[in-house]
Amino acid sequence: MPITTCVFDAYGTLFDVAAAARNAAAEPGREVFARHWPAIAEKWRLKQLQYTWLRAVMGEHTGFWQVTQDGLDWAMDSEGLGDDRDLRERLLQLYWELEAYPEVPAMLHALKDAGMNTAILSNGSPDMLDGAVTSAGIGDVLDDVLSVESVGIFKPARVVYDLVGARFGCAPDEVLFVSSNGWDASAAAGYGFTTAWVNRAGDPVDRLPARPTSILHDLTGIPALAGS
Ligand code: LAC
Repeated sequence: MPITTCVFDAYGTLFDVAAAARNAAAEPGREVFARHWPAIAEKWRLKQLQYTWLRAVMGEHTGFWQVTQDGLDWAMDSEGLGDDRDLRERLLQLYWELEAYPEVPAMLHALKDAGMNTAILSNGSPDMLDGAVTSAGIGDVLDDVLSVESVGIFKPARVVYDLVGARFGCAPDEVLFVSSNGWDASAAAGYGFTTAWVNRAGDPVDRLPARPTSILHDLTGIPALAGS
């Protein structure tokens, strides 16, 4: 089946999750943090994701905002910065205004010009996603923003991927699902979507039951992959 619907993971795929720590480190008075920000960004993201997987397995769902805060608290403790409440508040504030990767607006415009359905499918809560979409200025080139909050469990639970067919009335093989998270791209491939893994970091392929259909370095090749 030809692709009719392009669906994107949000954090790390459309939005640069390292931008919060990187931008905070560039602010006046945060010279000490300049040494720590790469480690904070990496540990924050890793713990945030681990907590989503663990909560899904445990049946202990909470909103993505809570696991984002929990992941940051672990990361700051780990770097000896656990007492810096001002830094914590600033990093959390910046998470609501993440930058989109530079190629995102043109890529989404190309998909819309070709008549594709476009959407986000994310662990993010609707208000967090609304903040990121608004600050990136891409609301007019997205048909919908789908959040796991409507099913109450994080990716890669299959009911999350069911949201796409329920919204657009399309079969799984009409969907191009795009994620920078190898585990998300693999799980979506196992679900039946055509998938593109945006492997910005040059990581090895995850050893999971299904492999992503395609591997790209950034999002510029997505319209061609979608056949638009
Ligand atoms: C999301 C996370 C997994 O946006 O990046 O769903």
